[in-house]
Amino acid sequence: MERELLMIPGPTNVNPSVLEALSAPTKSHVSQNFVELFRETLSDLKKVFMTKGETFVLAGSGTLAMEAATANFVEANDKVLNLVSGVFGQRFAEITKYHGATPSIVEVPWGKAVTPDIVKEALEKDEYKAVTIVHVDTSTGVANPIKDIGEVVRENSEAFYIVDTVCSLGGMEVRVDDWNIDVCIAGSQKCIATPPGLALIAINRRALSFLETRKSQANFYYGDLNNWLPIMRELTRYFATPPVNMIYALYQSLKSILEEGLENRFRRHYVLAEALRTAIDELGLQIVADRGHVADTVTAIYYPKGVKDQAFRRIVAERGVVIAGGLGPLAGKIFRIGHMGNINANDILVTIGAIEASLRELGYRFEYGSGLQAVQEKLLSRTKAK
Ligand SMILES: Cc1ncc(COP(=O)(O)O)c(C=O)c1O
Repeated sequence: MERELLMIPGPTNVNPSVLEALSAPTKSHVSQNFVELFRETLSDLKKVFMTKGETFVLAGSGTLAMEAATANFVEANDKVLNLVSGVFGQRFAEITKYHGATPSIVEVPWGKAVTPDIVKEALEKDEYKAVTIVHVDTSTGVANPIKDIGEVVRENSEAFYIVDTVCSLGGMEVRVDDWNIDVCIAGSQKCIATPPGLALIAINRRALSFLETRKSQANFYYGDLNNWLPIMRELTRYFATPPVNMIYALYQSLKSILEEGLENRFRRHYVLAEALRTAIDELGLQIVADRGHVADTVTAIYYPKGVKDQAFRRIVAERGVVIAGGLGPLAGKIFRIGHMGNINANDILVTIGAIEASLRELGYRFEYGSGLQAVQEKLLSRTKAK
């Protein structure tokens, strides 16, 4: 099979050591070996989420984690403030409705970030059981200021602060305990660089004490965290079979994340993202996200006039680089580059090279090579390519 470089916003490129872990002999989920490995995995996951609360690993995708976060902390007829800046913010509002609660949607123009001020204003008008937000909405490449919004939520309400970090955990700073995040969710397939298939959830002590004293059941059998809590604390117990080999893989990924060091990892994502953004500017293309709130994990870029989505992505892929199209109202208008997980300077160079060659082939006029030169100058002056 031809080697291809995944520069999509998940799934991302998986290291050979993680792939090897997937193919290890499957053990009993209650064997001592597996239980010890799972215990260490949960403990490493707490370090990545930066919490002393509880972590949960469930078989499922990020959407399962979003739904579990909602169903466990919101009940029918509760009011929920859904902060929307893209497709995944909208998804939180849909899930809220599914579970019989009432969404109150505050939406900003896509490409802009939710501001602490509009959250404060909303919280002054009404009381909510929960506030949901997506840190990096993958559809726009905007990073919302979840730390500052967390302060506003804590100062102005009793609401649970539910944050989707599917597209940031392990690539950009996320501090569950320090940032007042009650429920934080992620998936395995983005910055964590494990294949898709695991829903990752962290809850702080406040959320945990709500769960432990909750009288009613969550309207979600598999995703009821009270069904899982005894298991996550005592892994020899059974509720539903854990995805043993995926947990081997997660174990391996978390080890390499912690070995790199979270701060180093955030820095690497920032440096590579900056180089990519500089190149995009040089090519005369426009980034969707407001410059003050760009994500370091994904960049969404408007097509220049005359360049067609399908044709462009096809010929970029023919050059060995897979990039993504737009979602929702931005479909056909933008392309998205995922630059998270295991990527390095070479990957950014190859991606910009493939983009330049493809743009030229489709008749877009620009100074050929200027993007590549920008990446080289940026990266060679700050980091050594590995
Ligand atoms: C920010 C964000 N939240 C949630 C999801 C949903 O995750 P999944 O596709 O794994 O269900 C995605 C998927 O891309 C995402 O980017």
